[in-house]
Amino acid sequence: QGQQMWGGRFSEATDSFVAAFTASVGFDQRFAKHDIQGSVAHATMLGRCGILTQEEVDTIIQGLHQVQQEIDAGEFNWSIALEDVHMNVESRLTDIIGTVGKKLHTGRSRNDQVATDIRLWLREEVDNIVELLVKLQSGLLNLAEQHTDTIMPGFTHLQTAQPVSFGHHVMAWFEMLNRDTERLIDARSRINQMPLGSAALAGTTFPIDRTITAELLGFEGICQNSLDAVSDRDFAIEFTSAASILMMHLSRMSEEIILWMSAQFGFVQIPDRFCTGSSIMPQKKNPDVPELVRGKAARVFGQLITLLTLMKNQPLAYNKDNQEDKEPLFDCVDTLTGSLLAFVDMLPNIIPNKESMRAATMKGYATATDLADYLVRRGVPFRDAHEVVGNAVALGIKEGVDLSELKLEQLQQFSDAIGDDVFDYLTLEGSLAARDHLGGTAPNQVLQAVARGRERLAQYNIDVK
Ligand code: ARG
Repeated sequence: QGQQMWGGRFSEATDSFVAAFTASVGFDQRFAKHDIQGSVAHATMLGRCGILTQEEVDTIIQGLHQVQQEIDAGEFNWSIALEDVHMNVESRLTDIIGTVGKKLHTGRSRNDQVATDIRLWLREEVDNIVELLVKLQSGLLNLAEQHTDTIMPGFTHLQTAQPVSFGHHVMAWFEMLNRDTERLIDARSRINQMPLGSAALAGTTFPIDRTITAELLGFEGICQNSLDAVSDRDFAIEFTSAASILMMHLSRMSEEIILWMSAQFGFVQIPDRFCTGSSIMPQKKNPDVPELVRGKAARVFGQLITLLTLMKNQPLAYNKDNQEDKEPLFDCVDTLTGSLLAFVDMLPNIIPNKESMRAATMKGYATATDLADYLVRRGVPFRDAHEVVGNAVALGIKEGVDLSELKLEQLQQFSDAIGDDVFDYLTLEGSLAARDHLGGTAPNQVLQAVARGRERLAQYNIDVK
Protein backbone atom coordinates (compact mmCIF):
# COMPACT_ATOMS: atom_id res chain seq x y z
CA GLN A 1 0.00 0.00 0.00
CA GLY A 2 2.88 2.30 -0.87
CA GLN A 3 3.91 4.86 1.71
CA GLN A 4 0.50 5.10 3.36
CA MET A 5 0.33 4.93 7.12
CA TRP A 6 -3.21 3.60 7.33
CA GLY A 7 -3.02 0.91 4.62
CA GLY A 8 -3.91 -2.10 6.81
CA ARG A 9 -7.54 -2.53 5.81
CA PHE A 10 -7.26 -1.48 2.16
CA SER A 11 -7.10 -3.87 -0.76
CA GLU A 12 -5.85 -1.44 -3.40
CA ALA A 13 -3.73 1.67 -3.38
CA THR A 14 -5.33 5.08 -3.48
CA ASP A 15 -5.84 6.36 -6.97
CA SER A 16 -3.00 8.74 -7.75
CA PHE A 17 -5.40 11.54 -8.56
CA VAL A 18 -7.26 10.98 -5.28
CA ALA A 19 -3.97 10.98 -3.38
CA ALA A 20 -3.08 14.36 -4.84
CA PHE A 21 -6.62 15.66 -4.45
CA THR A 22 -6.88 14.75 -0.78
CA ALA A 23 -3.37 15.78 0.19
CA SER A 24 -2.84 18.94 2.20
CA VAL A 25 0.92 18.80 2.58
CA GLY A 26 1.34 21.41 -0.15
CA PHE A 27 0.02 24.01 2.27
CA ASP A 28 -0.08 22.56 5.77
CA GLN A 29 3.71 22.12 5.86
CA ARG A 30 3.48 25.67 7.10
CA PHE A 31 2.60 24.07 10.47
CA ALA A 32 5.76 21.92 10.62
CA LYS A 33 7.31 23.80 13.53
CA HIS A 34 4.08 23.72 15.54
CA ASP A 35 3.42 20.09 14.67
CA ILE A 36 6.84 19.12 16.02
CA GLN A 37 6.40 21.35 19.05
CA GLY A 38 3.09 19.56 19.76
CA SER A 39 4.67 16.14 19.26
CA VAL A 40 7.54 16.92 21.64
CA ALA A 41 5.01 17.92 24.31
CA HIS A 42 2.83 14.87 23.62
CA ALA A 43 5.80 12.49 23.88
CA THR A 44 6.98 14.16 27.07
CA MET A 45 3.53 13.73 28.59
CA LEU A 46 3.36 10.07 27.50
CA GLY A 47 6.66 9.55 29.31
CA ARG A 48 5.59 11.30 32.49
CA CYS A 49 2.40 9.26 32.58
CA GLY A 50 4.32 6.00 32.17
CA ILE A 51 2.80 5.25 28.77
CA LEU A 52 6.23 5.35 27.08
CA THR A 53 9.58 4.74 28.75
CA GLN A 54 11.87 7.70 29.30
CA GLU A 55 14.34 6.17 26.87
CA GLU A 56 11.69 5.99 24.16
CA VAL A 57 10.69 9.57 24.82
CA ASP A 58 14.29 10.79 24.60
CA THR A 59 14.80 8.98 21.32
CA ILE A 60 11.59 10.41 19.89
CA ILE A 61 12.44 13.95 20.92
CA GLN A 62 15.94 13.73 19.49
CA GLY A 63 14.50 12.38 16.26
CA LEU A 64 11.93 15.19 16.10
CA HIS A 65 14.70 17.74 16.51
CA GLN A 66 16.54 16.18 13.61
CA VAL A 67 13.38 16.34 11.48
CA GLN A 68 13.09 20.02 12.37
CA GLN A 69 16.71 20.59 11.32
CA GLU A 70 16.13 18.90 7.99
CA ILE A 71 13.09 21.08 7.38
CA ASP A 72 14.97 24.24 8.39
CA ALA A 73 17.81 23.30 6.06
CA GLY A 74 15.38 22.77 3.19
CA GLU A 75 16.46 19.13 2.96
CA PHE A 76 13.14 17.59 3.91
CA ASN A 77 11.47 15.52 1.25
CA TRP A 78 7.76 16.32 1.43
CA SER A 79 5.64 13.50 0.05
CA ILE A 80 2.12 13.82 -1.31
CA ALA A 81 1.56 10.11 -0.68
CA LEU A 82 1.94 10.90 3.02
CA GLU A 83 -0.97 13.34 2.70
CA ASP A 84 -0.22 15.98 5.25
CA VAL A 85 2.40 17.57 7.46
CA HIS A 86 1.54 15.27 10.36
CA MET A 87 2.24 12.02 8.55
CA ASN A 88 5.24 13.43 6.71
CA VAL A 89 6.89 14.35 9.99
CA GLU A 90 5.97 11.09 11.69
CA SER A 91 7.13 8.96 8.79
CA ARG A 92 10.48 10.71 8.60
CA LEU A 93 10.84 10.32 12.37
CA THR A 94 10.42 6.58 12.01
CA ASP A 95 12.96 6.51 9.16
CA ILE A 96 15.45 8.18 11.48
CA ILE A 97 14.86 6.44 14.82
CA GLY A 98 13.23 3.18 13.74
CA THR A 99 10.22 1.42 15.23
CA VAL A 100 10.02 3.54 18.38
CA GLY A 101 8.92 6.42 16.13
CA LYS A 102 5.70 4.52 15.54
CA LYS A 103 4.86 4.87 19.25
CA LEU A 104 4.57 8.66 19.08
CA HIS A 105 0.98 8.53 17.87
CA THR A 106 -0.18 6.59 20.97
CA GLY A 107 -3.25 8.24 22.48
CA ARG A 108 -3.42 10.81 19.71
CA SER A 109 -5.16 11.33 16.38
CA ARG A 110 -4.50 13.68 13.51
CA ASN A 111 -7.81 15.21 14.46
CA ASP A 112 -6.64 16.63 17.77
CA GLN A 113 -3.17 17.10 16.31
CA VAL A 114 -4.26 19.39 13.48
CA ALA A 115 -6.59 21.38 15.71
CA THR A 116 -3.66 21.90 18.08
CA ASP A 117 -1.29 22.90 15.27
CA ILE A 118 -3.68 25.53 13.92
CA ARG A 119 -4.11 27.07 17.34
CA LEU A 120 -0.38 27.15 18.10
CA TRP A 121 0.30 28.72 14.72
CA LEU A 122 -2.55 31.23 14.85
CA ARG A 123 -1.64 32.32 18.36
CA GLU A 124 1.79 33.32 17.08
CA GLU A 125 0.36 35.13 14.06
CA VAL A 126 -2.07 37.06 16.27
CA ASP A 127 0.84 38.20 18.44
CA ASN A 128 2.66 39.44 15.37
CA ILE A 129 -0.45 41.22 14.08
CA VAL A 130 -1.13 42.86 17.44
CA GLU A 131 2.45 44.08 17.55
CA LEU A 132 2.07 45.69 14.12
CA LEU A 133 -1.24 47.23 15.14
CA VAL A 134 0.18 48.77 18.28
CA LYS A 135 3.10 50.19 16.30
CA LEU A 136 0.66 51.68 13.83
CA GLN A 137 -1.41 53.17 16.63
CA SER A 138 1.69 54.62 18.21
CA GLY A 139 2.66 56.23 14.91
CA LEU A 140 -0.81 57.77 14.70
CA LEU A 141 -0.43 59.28 18.16
CA ASN A 142 2.76 61.02 17.02
CA LEU A 143 1.05 62.30 13.89
CA ALA A 144 -2.00 63.54 15.80
CA GLU A 145 0.19 65.29 18.33
CA GLN A 146 1.89 67.33 15.59
CA HIS A 147 -1.42 68.41 14.13
CA THR A 148 -3.74 69.28 16.98
CA ASP A 149 -4.28 72.73 15.43
CA THR A 150 -4.08 71.84 11.76
CA ILE A 151 -7.60 72.64 10.58
CA MET A 152 -9.54 70.68 8.00
CA PRO A 153 -13.19 70.40 7.08
CA GLY A 154 -15.05 67.67 8.92
CA PHE A 155 -17.58 65.96 6.68
CA THR A 156 -20.98 64.38 6.90
CA HIS A 157 -22.43 63.04 3.65
CA LEU A 158 -19.01 64.04 2.26
CA GLN A 159 -20.28 67.64 2.43
CA THR A 160 -18.39 70.17 4.51
CA ALA A 161 -19.93 70.08 7.98
CA GLN A 162 -17.80 71.67 10.70
CA PRO A 163 -14.11 72.47 11.09
CA VAL A 164 -12.12 69.79 12.86
CA SER A 165 -8.53 69.35 13.85
CA PHE A 166 -6.60 67.02 11.55
CA GLY A 167 -5.16 65.53 14.75
CA HIS A 168 -8.72 64.79 15.87
CA HIS A 169 -9.39 62.95 12.61
CA VAL A 170 -6.21 60.93 13.09
CA MET A 171 -7.31 60.10 16.63
CA ALA A 172 -10.57 58.74 15.22
CA TRP A 173 -8.43 56.27 13.26
CA PHE A 174 -6.56 55.48 16.47
CA GLU A 175 -9.81 54.59 18.24
CA MET A 176 -10.96 52.35 15.39
CA LEU A 177 -7.68 50.47 15.47
CA ASN A 178 -7.69 50.24 19.24
CA ARG A 179 -10.95 48.33 19.19
CA ASP A 180 -9.38 46.02 16.61
CA THR A 181 -6.43 45.45 18.91
CA GLU A 182 -8.77 44.65 21.79
CA ARG A 183 -10.84 42.33 19.63
CA LEU A 184 -7.77 40.37 18.55
CA ILE A 185 -6.41 40.10 22.07
CA ASP A 186 -9.80 38.88 23.22
CA ALA A 187 -10.03 36.34 20.39
CA ARG A 188 -6.54 35.11 21.29
CA SER A 189 -7.73 33.76 24.62
CA ARG A 190 -10.24 31.52 22.85
CA ILE A 191 -7.62 30.48 20.27
CA ASN A 192 -5.26 29.58 23.08
CA GLN A 193 -7.19 26.52 24.34
CA MET A 194 -5.78 23.02 23.86
CA PRO A 195 -7.60 20.30 21.88
CA LEU A 196 -4.73 17.78 22.28
CA GLY A 197 -5.81 14.69 24.19
CA SER A 198 -9.21 14.56 22.52
CA ALA A 199 -7.73 12.02 20.11
CA ALA A 200 -10.02 11.17 17.18
CA LEU A 201 -13.25 12.32 18.83
CA ALA A 202 -13.98 10.50 22.09
CA GLY A 203 -10.75 10.74 24.03
CA THR A 204 -8.26 7.93 24.56
CA THR A 205 -8.04 4.76 26.61
CA PHE A 206 -4.54 5.67 27.82
CA PRO A 207 -4.05 7.37 31.19
CA ILE A 208 -2.97 10.72 29.73
CA ASP A 209 -2.62 13.97 31.66
CA ARG A 210 -3.69 16.90 29.51
CA THR A 211 -2.57 19.47 32.04
CA ILE A 212 1.04 18.46 31.33
CA THR A 213 0.80 19.06 27.57
CA ALA A 214 -1.20 22.26 28.07
CA GLU A 215 1.48 23.64 30.34
CA LEU A 216 4.33 22.58 28.06
CA LEU A 217 2.65 24.23 25.08
CA GLY A 218 1.66 27.40 26.89
CA PHE A 219 -2.08 26.96 26.44
CA GLU A 220 -4.15 28.96 28.89
CA GLY A 221 -6.91 26.38 28.98
CA ILE A 222 -7.92 22.89 27.85
CA CYS A 223 -10.84 22.22 25.51
CA GLN A 224 -13.44 20.62 27.76
CA ASN A 225 -15.20 18.33 25.30
CA SER A 226 -13.38 16.01 22.93
CA LEU A 227 -16.07 16.07 20.22
CA ASP A 228 -16.13 19.84 20.19
CA ALA A 229 -12.35 20.17 20.42
CA VAL A 230 -11.56 18.27 17.23
CA SER A 231 -14.36 19.69 15.14
CA ASP A 232 -15.10 23.33 15.68
CA ARG A 233 -13.10 26.03 13.95
CA ASP A 234 -15.01 28.91 15.51
CA PHE A 235 -11.76 30.30 16.92
CA ALA A 236 -10.47 30.69 13.35
CA ILE A 237 -13.77 32.21 12.23
CA GLU A 238 -13.63 34.62 15.16
CA PHE A 239 -10.11 35.64 14.18
CA THR A 240 -11.13 36.10 10.54
CA SER A 241 -14.09 38.14 11.62
CA ALA A 242 -11.89 40.43 13.73
CA ALA A 243 -9.50 40.56 10.76
CA SER A 244 -12.37 41.54 8.47
CA ILE A 245 -13.43 44.39 10.74
CA LEU A 246 -9.82 45.54 10.90
CA MET A 247 -9.50 45.39 7.09
CA MET A 248 -12.77 47.30 6.81
CA HIS A 249 -11.15 50.03 8.92
CA LEU A 250 -7.94 50.03 6.87
CA SER A 251 -10.08 50.25 3.77
CA ARG A 252 -11.99 53.27 5.06
CA MET A 253 -8.70 55.00 5.88
CA SER A 254 -7.41 54.09 2.43
CA GLU A 255 -10.49 55.58 0.84
CA GLU A 256 -9.93 58.87 2.67
CA ILE A 257 -6.28 59.01 1.68
CA ILE A 258 -7.12 58.29 -1.95
CA LEU A 259 -9.73 61.05 -1.98
CA TRP A 260 -7.48 63.49 -0.14
CA MET A 261 -4.61 62.88 -2.57
CA SER A 262 -6.73 63.84 -5.57
CA ALA A 263 -6.08 67.27 -7.11
CA GLN A 264 -9.68 68.17 -6.24
CA PHE A 265 -9.02 67.75 -2.50
CA GLY A 266 -5.26 68.25 -2.34
CA PHE A 267 -5.29 67.66 1.43
CA VAL A 268 -2.39 65.23 1.80
CA GLN A 269 0.54 63.58 0.15
CA ILE A 270 2.01 60.23 1.06
CA PRO A 271 5.70 59.49 0.52
CA ASP A 272 6.60 58.48 -3.05
CA ARG A 273 7.63 55.01 -1.92
CA PHE A 274 3.96 54.10 -1.53
CA CYS A 275 2.99 55.29 -4.99
CA THR A 276 3.55 54.31 -8.58
CA GLY A 277 3.38 56.22 -11.84
CA SER A 278 1.52 55.68 -15.06
CA SER A 279 3.13 54.13 -18.12
CA ILE A 280 1.37 56.65 -20.33
CA MET A 281 0.55 59.75 -18.27
CA PRO A 282 3.81 61.34 -17.08
CA GLN A 283 2.15 63.55 -14.45
CA LYS A 284 0.61 60.70 -12.47
CA LYS A 285 1.41 59.67 -8.91
CA ASN A 286 -1.08 56.98 -8.01
CA PRO A 287 -1.90 55.96 -4.44
CA ASP A 288 -1.38 52.27 -5.16
CA VAL A 289 -0.83 51.09 -1.63
CA PRO A 290 -4.07 52.47 -0.18
CA GLU A 291 -5.95 51.37 -3.28
CA LEU A 292 -4.60 47.86 -2.95
CA VAL A 293 -5.39 47.68 0.76
CA ARG A 294 -8.95 48.78 -0.04
CA GLY A 295 -9.08 45.93 -2.56
CA LYS A 296 -7.53 43.41 -0.21
CA ALA A 297 -10.28 44.02 2.34
CA ALA A 298 -12.64 42.33 -0.12
CA ARG A 299 -10.44 39.28 -0.10
CA VAL A 300 -10.41 38.94 3.67
CA PHE A 301 -14.20 39.33 3.84
CA GLY A 302 -14.37 36.51 1.28
CA GLN A 303 -12.26 34.24 3.49
CA LEU A 304 -14.61 34.92 6.41
CA ILE A 305 -17.56 33.80 4.31
CA THR A 306 -15.58 30.76 3.15
CA LEU A 307 -14.90 29.64 6.72
CA LEU A 308 -18.46 30.26 7.90
CA THR A 309 -19.84 28.32 4.97
CA LEU A 310 -17.29 25.55 5.47
CA MET A 311 -18.46 25.05 9.05
CA LYS A 312 -22.20 25.45 8.80
CA ASN A 313 -23.20 21.96 7.65
CA GLN A 314 -20.75 19.86 9.60
CA PRO A 315 -22.19 17.34 12.03
CA LEU A 316 -19.98 16.46 14.99
CA ALA A 317 -17.19 15.62 15.05
CA TYR A 318 -14.22 15.96 12.62
CA ASN A 319 -14.96 15.95 8.90
CA LYS A 320 -12.46 16.18 6.09
CA ASP A 321 -14.17 19.42 5.07
CA ASN A 322 -12.05 21.01 7.74
CA GLN A 323 -8.92 20.50 5.70
CA GLU A 324 -10.28 23.43 3.68
CA ASP A 325 -9.90 25.75 6.68
CA LYS A 326 -6.20 26.28 6.14
CA GLU A 327 -5.80 28.15 2.88
CA PRO A 328 -8.45 30.77 3.68
CA LEU A 329 -6.93 31.27 7.09
CA PHE A 330 -3.38 31.54 5.70
CA ASP A 331 -4.53 33.98 3.06
CA CYS A 332 -6.35 36.04 5.63
CA VAL A 333 -3.30 36.22 7.91
CA ASP A 334 -0.92 37.01 5.03
CA THR A 335 -3.18 39.65 3.52
CA LEU A 336 -3.78 41.33 6.84
CA THR A 337 -0.12 41.20 7.86
CA GLY A 338 0.98 42.67 4.52
CA SER A 339 -1.58 45.45 4.71
CA LEU A 340 -0.51 46.32 8.23
CA LEU A 341 3.18 46.32 7.30
CA ALA A 342 2.42 48.87 4.59
CA PHE A 343 0.26 50.97 6.90
CA VAL A 344 2.75 51.01 9.78
CA ASP A 345 5.17 52.88 7.54
CA MET A 346 2.69 54.82 5.41
CA LEU A 347 -0.06 56.15 7.63
CA PRO A 348 2.04 57.99 10.24
CA ASN A 349 4.03 59.56 7.37
CA ILE A 350 1.12 61.32 5.73
CA ILE A 351 2.05 64.88 4.86
CA PRO A 352 -0.95 67.19 5.29
CA ASN A 353 -1.17 70.34 3.18
CA LYS A 354 -2.33 72.82 5.80
CA GLU A 355 -3.06 75.63 3.32
CA SER A 356 -5.38 73.64 1.12
CA MET A 357 -7.13 72.06 4.10
CA ARG A 358 -7.70 75.51 5.50
CA ALA A 359 -8.89 76.92 2.19
CA ALA A 360 -11.35 74.04 1.83
CA THR A 361 -12.67 74.65 5.34
CA MET A 362 -13.23 78.32 4.52
CA LYS A 363 -15.27 77.40 1.46
CA GLY A 364 -18.02 75.26 2.91
CA TYR A 365 -19.67 77.54 5.57
CA ALA A 366 -18.25 75.22 8.17
CA THR A 367 -18.87 77.67 11.00
CA ALA A 368 -22.61 77.96 10.37
CA THR A 369 -23.39 75.83 13.43
CA ASP A 370 -21.13 78.08 15.52
CA LEU A 371 -23.20 81.10 14.47
CA ALA A 372 -26.42 79.27 15.38
CA ASP A 373 -24.97 78.28 18.78
CA TYR A 374 -23.93 81.93 19.30
CA LEU A 375 -27.51 83.07 18.73
CA VAL A 376 -28.83 80.40 21.10
CA ARG A 377 -26.54 81.70 23.83
CA ARG A 378 -28.17 85.10 23.23
CA GLY A 379 -31.63 83.73 23.83
CA VAL A 380 -32.72 82.83 20.29
CA PRO A 381 -34.44 79.40 20.19
CA PHE A 382 -32.31 76.92 18.23
CA ARG A 383 -34.82 76.37 15.42
CA ASP A 384 -35.06 80.15 14.83
CA ALA A 385 -31.29 80.47 14.99
CA HIS A 386 -31.04 77.71 12.37
CA GLU A 387 -33.29 79.75 10.06
CA VAL A 388 -31.33 82.98 10.61
CA VAL A 389 -28.04 81.31 9.79
CA GLY A 390 -29.56 79.62 6.75
CA ASN A 391 -30.45 83.07 5.43
CA ALA A 392 -26.94 84.33 6.13
CA VAL A 393 -25.44 81.36 4.30
CA ALA A 394 -27.69 82.01 1.32
CA LEU A 395 -26.43 85.60 1.21
CA GLY A 396 -22.83 84.39 1.47
CA ILE A 397 -23.36 82.01 -1.43
CA LYS A 398 -24.91 84.81 -3.49
CA GLU A 399 -21.99 87.16 -2.78
CA GLY A 400 -19.39 84.41 -3.01
CA VAL A 401 -17.99 85.01 0.48
CA ASP A 402 -17.66 83.13 3.75
CA LEU A 403 -19.82 83.99 6.79
CA SER A 404 -16.79 85.62 8.43
CA GLU A 405 -16.42 87.88 5.38
CA LEU A 406 -19.96 89.30 5.55
CA LYS A 407 -20.29 92.81 7.03
CA LEU A 408 -21.74 93.15 10.53
CA GLU A 409 -24.74 95.08 9.13
CA GLN A 410 -25.37 92.35 6.58
CA LEU A 411 -25.52 89.79 9.36
CA GLN A 412 -27.63 91.97 11.62
CA GLN A 413 -30.39 92.27 9.02
CA PHE A 414 -31.22 88.62 9.82
CA SER A 415 -31.21 88.98 13.62
CA ASP A 416 -30.70 91.84 16.05
CA ALA A 417 -29.22 89.37 18.52
CA ILE A 418 -25.98 89.55 16.52
CA GLY A 419 -23.31 91.76 18.11
CA ASP A 420 -19.89 92.80 16.90
CA ASP A 421 -18.26 89.98 18.90
CA VAL A 422 -19.80 87.51 16.42
CA PHE A 423 -16.64 87.33 14.35
CA ASP A 424 -14.78 85.74 17.26
CA TYR A 425 -17.06 82.75 16.80
CA LEU A 426 -16.90 82.62 13.04
CA THR A 427 -13.17 81.98 12.86
CA LEU A 428 -12.02 78.42 12.34
CA GLU A 429 -9.80 78.57 15.41
CA GLY A 430 -12.69 79.82 17.54
CA SER A 431 -14.92 77.06 16.23
CA LEU A 432 -12.39 74.36 17.16
CA ALA A 433 -11.50 75.81 20.55
CA ALA A 434 -15.16 76.02 21.52
CA ARG A 435 -15.64 72.23 21.35
CA ASP A 436 -13.74 71.83 24.55
CA HIS A 437 -14.93 68.67 26.26
CA LEU A 438 -13.91 65.03 26.36
CA GLY A 439 -14.05 63.66 22.82
CA GLY A 440 -14.31 67.14 21.24
CA THR A 441 -12.05 68.61 18.58
CA ALA A 442 -10.55 71.50 20.62
CA PRO A 443 -6.76 71.25 20.21
CA ASN A 444 -6.15 70.86 23.95
CA GLN A 445 -8.68 68.01 24.03
CA VAL A 446 -6.89 66.29 21.15
CA LEU A 447 -3.62 66.64 23.05
CA GLN A 448 -5.21 65.02 26.10
CA ALA A 449 -6.60 62.24 23.93
CA VAL A 450 -3.08 61.60 22.62
CA ALA A 451 -1.74 61.40 26.18
CA ARG A 452 -4.48 58.96 27.19
CA GLY A 453 -3.76 56.98 24.02
CA ARG A 454 -0.12 56.58 25.07
CA GLU A 455 -1.23 55.22 28.44
CA ARG A 456 -3.60 52.80 26.78
CA LEU A 457 -0.88 51.48 24.48
CA ALA A 458 1.59 51.11 27.36
CA GLN A 459 -0.54 48.32 28.85
CA TYR A 460 0.17 46.09 25.84
CA ASN A 461 3.89 46.04 26.73
CA ILE A 462 5.00 46.21 23.12
CA ASP A 463 8.18 47.97 22.06
CA VAL A 464 6.91 50.43 19.47
CA LYS A 465 10.35 51.48 18.20
N1 ARG B 1 -4.97 17.09 6.88
C1 ARG B 1 -6.05 16.97 7.78
C2 ARG B 1 -6.73 18.34 8.00
O1 ARG B 1 -6.18 19.27 7.57
C3 ARG B 1 -5.57 16.44 9.08
C4 ARG B 1 -6.60 15.68 9.83
C5 ARG B 1 -6.95 14.48 9.07
N2 ARG B 1 -7.79 13.62 9.81
C6 ARG B 1 -8.40 12.62 9.24
N3 ARG B 1 -9.13 11.85 9.99
N4 ARG B 1 -8.33 12.38 7.93
O2 ARG B 1 -7.76 18.47 8.58
